[in-house]
Amino acid sequence: MSKDLKKIKKEIEELREEIRRHDYLYYVLDNPEISDKEYDGLVRRLKELEGKYPQFITPDSPTQRVSGQVLEGFKTVRHRVAMLSLDNTYSTEEVREWEARNKRLFKKEVELDYVVEPKIDGVSCSLTYQKGVLVLGATRGDGSVGEDITANIKTVSSIPLKLLGKDVPEVLEVRGEVYMEKEDFQRLNKERAKQGEQPFANPRNAASGSLKLLEPALVAKRRLKCFIHSFGYSEGFSFKSHKEFLEKAKAWGLRINPYYKHCKNIEEVIEYCLKFQEKREKLEYEVDGMVIKVNSFSQQEKLGTTLKSPRWAVAYKFPAHQATTKLLDVEMSVGRTGAITPVAVLKPVECGGVTISRSTLHNFEEVERLGIKIGDTVLVERAGEVIPKIVKVITSKRTGKEKPVKVPKSCPVCGGKVSKVKEEEVAYYCINPACPAQLKRALLHFASRGAMDIEGVGESLVEELVDRGLVKDLADIYFLEKEDLFKLPLFKEKKAGNIFSAIERSKKKELAKFLYGLGIRYVGEKIARILADRFSDIDKFFSLKKEDLENIEEVGPNIASSVIEYFSQNSVRQLIKKFKKAGLILRKERRKTEGILRGKKFVFTGELASFTRRQAQEEVLKRGGDVSSSVSKNVDYVVAGRNPGSKFNKAKALKLRIINEEEFNKILEKGEI
Ligand code: IVH
Repeated sequence: MSKDLKKIKKEIEELREEIRRHDYLYYVLDNPEISDKEYDGLVRRLKELEGKYPQFITPDSPTQRVSGQVLEGFKTVRHRVAMLSLDNTYSTEEVREWEARNKRLFKKEVELDYVVEPKIDGVSCSLTYQKGVLVLGATRGDGSVGEDITANIKTVSSIPLKLLGKDVPEVLEVRGEVYMEKEDFQRLNKERAKQGEQPFANPRNAASGSLKLLEPALVAKRRLKCFIHSFGYSEGFSFKSHKEFLEKAKAWGLRINPYYKHCKNIEEVIEYCLKFQEKREKLEYEVDGMVIKVNSFSQQEKLGTTLKSPRWAVAYKFPAHQATTKLLDVEMSVGRTGAITPVAVLKPVECGGVTISRSTLHNFEEVERLGIKIGDTVLVERAGEVIPKIVKVITSKRTGKEKPVKVPKSCPVCGGKVSKVKEEEVAYYCINPACPAQLKRALLHFASRGAMDIEGVGESLVEELVDRGLVKDLADIYFLEKEDLFKLPLFKEKKAGNIFSAIERSKKKELAKFLYGLGIRYVGEKIARILADRFSDIDKFFSLKKEDLENIEEVGPNIASSVIEYFSQNSVRQLIKKFKKAGLILRKERRKTEGILRGKKFVFTGELASFTRRQAQEEVLKRGGDVSSSVSKNVDYVVAGRNPGSKFNKAKALKLRIINEEEFNKILEKGEI
């Protein structure tokens, strides 16, 4: 190796060490030394060097967390030491009984000291480090055999890819809990609702669903976190106690929950459990109890395990945030797409620190599942600051006077017809497109920042415009006269002027924003952008076929049918005509470079060094080319990056033209190689 190369290799290694140290300070000690910006600078420099000198990339480099590949499935792995579960206790009495039982198992009188830790409500995982490098991340599975989810585990920033220090064991297997913070959970569910996907019921399901995704790049976006809580197995190192393990693990850079406490006896344990219960609400993550562990490993060994769980550890479960109250009424709310949602009106009740007076029932299938009637006494629950939900009806409290909840025959707002749009869907819709409730929400959405961004068109103005009949469809906003606004109460000239210019400005918004603004079911901001990039002219949408849409990687069958259905309506044709008449362009600007890849179809497999999958696809589309997510005979180029998947083999079998990133770059530049 030349002197220069040696120097570069050294700089790369030093950068990695530095980044690892900052990861440790940030994630484990919660005490960063540098700003996010400075940290990003280090990562950028490392990426730059690794991009130029890929021969120096190692799997434990901080840049190697997210692999761009799509997995076909997970391999199974047998755990060296079984991953057991825990017995539960629900009262301080049961905790004392657990200790008494344990003490009886020793032949002579013993004193037991403990470590108490929060019980994180997430998904357990096992991590194996060989010579300090993370080589395996696995799920618990049935306790003996789990699944190899290494690629997904590597995306979790708080899990080190390499342990710190010189004294790391030859092999170390630890167990921990992967979880999602409450805030990230809520954000994710909002996003899912926007995209028409089913929300997760709680942060634990969200974490578990995320770890099962076959695309590590998507897992990385879920911002999962991890606390290490147990020792599994080691070679070349031994520990005397759980406390010693935790402290050593922390020094190696593993993230340990800061609230663990060493307690001298069971009374101290109980005191801490009760004290912690109060803290629970304030944490960023969900804790469903405490785990009490006998500290000494030799005592643990003597106590041993039952078939399912160790005798030396037990969970002290916190009571769920539940309360009983009365269902006073069920109101029907009409959403932007006309979906009718039953909402429970409850007698206000305190639950886990907040007062609950309403709770969504989601749909009529849920009403049926619960068997709920107006006047019923119900059990409500609030998990992790999530919207409260009705868990069940307490039927023993029925008086016979309860009234059934019926699907309304007509829309509670406009009196229009209510029906299921599709038999297989659970939702009922108001199918009158001119329904004022729908129109108000639709207009608010159309004018919102992510869509046409018409400043000043807020809730009160929308109410006025729709109630006074000034706006009867979305396009009417562009046909308003200044006098119309002056007629509205409290409308000053300047404000009217501002709104007018904002409306005027919005006519120049890009096609993607407009598409999103239309409020087509399942078409969120991201999908709208993808559709606009692909079809570039609103008129094309009227002649789309299902295959045209389903060929796009991100577009599933629900989105495809929804888009086709939307544009097949005559009223939509009229609406778009009206928008055009108002001066909206509704076409994507054509770029100069367009065309050099016309007629060429590309498929991507594996990771590219200088593009994400999406970026690479966009570069092709920009040049008039086409992309596909599956390999077939009519594909012109298969671009293979690092770790290519099954598409690579299929391409070989079909004798397609397989090119590397360098060649791809050339094609982007010249249109051919
Ligand atoms: S110790 C032998 N400590 O709870 C099992 N588990 O209900 C040793 N959990 O599968 C587990 N926080 O995934 C332990 N601080 C903690 C924990 C914890 C959460 C999970 C773990 C386990 C489940 C049992």
